[in-house]
Amino acid sequence: MASIFRSDLLAGRVALVTGGGSGIGRGIAEAFVAHGARVGIVGRNAERLEGAAAAMGGSCLAAPADVRDPKAVEAALDAVTARFGPIDIVVNSAAGNFLAPAAALSPNGFRTVMDIDANGTFNVCRAAFDRSLRDRGGVVLNISATLHYAATPLQIHASAAKAAVDAITRTLAVEWGPLGVRVVGLAPGPIEGTEGMSRLSSDETRERVIAAIPLRRFGRIDEMAAAALFLVSEGASYVSGETLVADGAAWLGTSAQWMG
Ligand code: NAP
Ligand code: COA
Repeated sequence: MASIFRSDLLAGRVALVTGGGSGIGRGIAEAFVAHGARVGIVGRNAERLEGAAAAMGGSCLAAPADVRDPKAVEAALDAVTARFGPIDIVVNSAAGNFLAPAAALSPNGFRTVMDIDANGTFNVCRAAFDRSLRDRGGVVLNISATLHYAATPLQIHASAAKAAVDAITRTLAVEWGPLGVRVVGLAPGPIEGTEGMSRLSSDETRERVIAAIPLRRFGRIDEMAAAALFLVSEGASYVSGETLVADGAAWLGTSAQWMG
């Protein structure tokens, strides 16, 4: 879909996108490159990451790392900085999720998702702050979800993790705002063609889920990328500490199903 944003919206900016090798993170990385940014993408699967970076051309660098490992995160940030210069924009899109009833979820299963989503987001923010944000300002965009706004069965791990991510967004906005760092969030609804969707829904539930979404359709990756472009751009220069919900009013409509 053609972008409504100026093609030089992010010219001269350097971004780091975790989870940038697939799904929503990749869509955001591609949109950033298309709007003039140079982008480092982080993930564990080096081969997939290299493939995504190659498809984006010379303005994208694959920097493999596990966001749970602070030292690996630091090394990835250093590699991106060495290639493109100091980082202005950080997007935390790396996450893990699966369906599991709380009673059957092992402590390690809970911990693993908390570790990727919450600790990983903190590790990346912290390392980027030390390397560039503290001195130059910038923007952090944390990809969240709406799971924890009400309650989502089979998702206790991801709900707790995204609640933590939202707390990180608000806290850092207050602590780092005086240094010129905006910290914002984006909470997608169900987005078609993503790993998240394929793990959490099935062909059988598809029509029922769509019927419960007020906009009567799933979202698209390019719609999340457009929201991300806005949030990291000067258009959102007075937005900080807030998480934008982009879900077709899905979570607000949750109780509408009881009305028939
Ligand atoms: P995805 O393609 O599976 O994206 C997750 C990415 O995170 C992958 O590229 C994965 O790459 C990376 N990742 C996972 N664990 C990692 C780790 N320990 N270290 C570094 N990278 C790691 O799924 P998606 O559905 O597009 O999700 C993207 C974001 O949107 C997530 O934050 C998710 O919670 C959020 N979200 C998605 C939906 C949806 O409908 N899809 C809805 C609400 C929120 P590797 O496997 O290579 O590490
Ligand atoms: N149901 C219940 N428990 C599960 C599970 C499932 N579907 N998948 C993994 N777990 C548990 C494992 O059993 C393990 O716990 P245990 O040691 O007590 O057995 C724990 O979670 C860690 O699993 P492991 O496979 O070692 O983790 P990992 O670090 O290799 O992978 C995941 C992390 C589990 C989140 C994996 O699904 C992943 O890499 N996801 C990334 C992509 C993704 O989830 N995308 C959607 C984003 S919304």
